[in-house]
Amino acid sequence: MLKVGVVGVGGISGAHIPVWEAMENAELTAICDIRTERMEKYEGKRKYTDFDEMLNNEEFDIIDICLPTYLHADFAVKAMERGINVICEKPISLKEEDVERVYSTAEKNNVKFMVAQVLRFWPEYELLKEIYETKKYGKLLSGTMTRLGCYPRWSWDGWMMDEKRSGLVPFDLHIHDLDFMVYAFGMPKVSYKYRSKRPDQDFVSVSYDFGEFSINSEASWYSSCYPFTAEFRFQFEDAVVANENGKMMIFGRDDLKIDLSEEAEGDTGNINLPKSNAYANEIIYFADCVVNNKPVEKVKADELRCVLDILNSL
Ligand SMILES: NC(=O)c1ccc[n+]([C@@H]2O[C@H](COP(=O)([O-])OP(=O)(O)OC[C@H]3O[C@@H](n4cnc5c(N)ncnc54)[C@H](O)[C@@H]3O)[C@@H](O)[C@H]2O)c1
Repeated sequence: MLKVGVVGVGGISGAHIPVWEAMENAELTAICDIRTERMEKYEGKRKYTDFDEMLNNEEFDIIDICLPTYLHADFAVKAMERGINVICEKPISLKEEDVERVYSTAEKNNVKFMVAQVLRFWPEYELLKEIYETKKYGKLLSGTMTRLGCYPRWSWDGWMMDEKRSGLVPFDLHIHDLDFMVYAFGMPKVSYKYRSKRPDQDFVSVSYDFGEFSINSEASWYSSCYPFTAEFRFQFEDAVVANENGKMMIFGRDDLKIDLSEEAEGDTGNINLPKSNAYANEIIYFADCVVNNKPVEKVKADELRCVLDILNSL
């Protein structure tokens, strides 16, 4: 049975904790947050407001880091130096040099580390990657990816609105699409970029050149309460593959229309969670790497370096 601890019981922990709770081969024994009220609803867990104290008092196989971005690398290193495997929310850090620091700590201590870049485990995005690799609809010609939302006034201590702590839209939202592009299509060149950054909003538009095709990507925190939207549309030689308006569709020649939404439901196995739960997929994947001593191949250090390098240039 894996003994698991979660640190940072804010917004995204609400997607991680139910997964650990539903897993048969893991037990979430302790949680940690500086705000005790965030932990109240989780019964039967040992609760800490100090991470060092939690590490001193408990034994863990895995620590799951759901802290604000600027704390990720230091907390990951601290846990791994005690011989604990770490899964950490994105981004690994705002600084490229932290990739080396984190991965060399993992290696030195013979533990596993993974950044939870969730689109790599998101069924619609996995299907898109498969369509690209199999050339089922011919070669890829162009793509568009968007991730739009409103200014995150809700975060603890306003950390998300503080560029030094969150990196703003590039590191908070655009990172998802860029990380997926690097994972699925390789390392691109930035051929166009535009950013409009103001005290209460942030927007980036970037074109990525992959040699044979180009992908445009937009991400925003608008000052208005624009509804959260994450979509893509890819033009292949023989079809358009679109994940828009809550549906994954193929639009082919001669009025061909295929709804892939059900196929994109994925499979979380026999754990008691919705089938299309990418957070479950990433956590189950990492736990399997730990239990069966497999390399964490799905998220690679070089890809993370490339992503941070580009994000720091926007
Ligand atoms: N993969 C995704 O889809 C996704 C979505 C949202 C957020 N995230 C990432 O998850 C991370 C957390 O984001 P969030 O929205 O949950 O933020 P949040 O502000 O809601 O939660 C962070 C929590 O950390 C706690 N905290 C702060 N300092 C601490 C410390 N020293 N020790 C213990 N607890 C501490 C805060 O009290 C808060 O409860 C971010 O890095 C973000 O990029 C990922």
